[in-house]
Amino acid sequence: ADSMDEDCDYLFKAVLIGDSAVGKSNILSRISRNEFQLDSKPTIGVEFAYRNVKVGDKLIKAQIWDTAGQERFRAITSSYYRGALGALLVYDITRKNTFESLKKWLHELREFGNPDMVIVLVGNKSDLSDSRQVVVEDGQTLAQLEGLCFMETSAKENIHVEEAFLNMINKIH
Ligand code: GTP
Ligand code: MG
Repeated sequence: ADSMDEDCDYLFKAVLIGDSAVGKSNILSRISRNEFQLDSKPTIGVEFAYRNVKVGDKLIKAQIWDTAGQERFRAITSSYYRGALGALLVYDITRKNTFESLKKWLHELREFGNPDMVIVLVGNKSDLSDSRQVVVEDGQTLAQLEGLCFMETSAKENIHVEEAFLNMINKIH
C-alpha cells in the first residue's frame, strides 16, 4: 500500500461535478485545507485533494477529485468517475442555468458512475441570498425526486460545507 495511506482504514474516492464557476474548487479547498479564494481560476483538467475523517473508530481518507465545469477543459469522463463512491453535485443558487444543467449532470453520473454512488446535491453561494435565483424548495424537490441528499452551502462563509461532506462520507458505508 501507499505509505501515505498506511494509517487509514479506508480510502474513498469522491468527485465534484457541476457547471463552471459554481464553486467546486472552493468547496474542495474548504474541505481539504479550510481555505477560500475570491478570485480562483477555472480548473483545467483534473485536480484532487485529500481529507482524513474519523467515522466511529475508523479513519477514512477521502480522495476528492475536481474537474472543470467547462467542457473544453474537462478530463476524460469515464476515468474521472471510475471507482468513485460519492459525488457532490453542485449548482449556484444565484444562477438558474446552473440548476437547469443538473439534469445533464445526473444523466452523466448515471451513465458513468457506480449505481450505488452516494450523491449529495449542493446549492452553493448561500451567502449571496440577495441575488438568489433558485429557491431552497426547488433544490429540495429535485433531491427528493432523484433520491439525493441536499444541502445549501457557502464555501465563502464556510456554511454547511463540512456537513455536506460528512453527509456523503457517512452514507457511503
Ligand atoms: P470551474 O473550475 O470552472 O468548473 O469552476 P468551479 O466550480 O471550480 O468554481 P470556483 O470554485 O473556481 O469558484 C468560482 C467563483 O465563485 C470564484 O470567484 C469563487 O470565489 C466564487 N465562489 C465560490 N464559492 C462561493 C460562495 O460560496 N460564495 C460566494 N460569494 N462566492 C463563491
Ligand atoms: Mg474549479
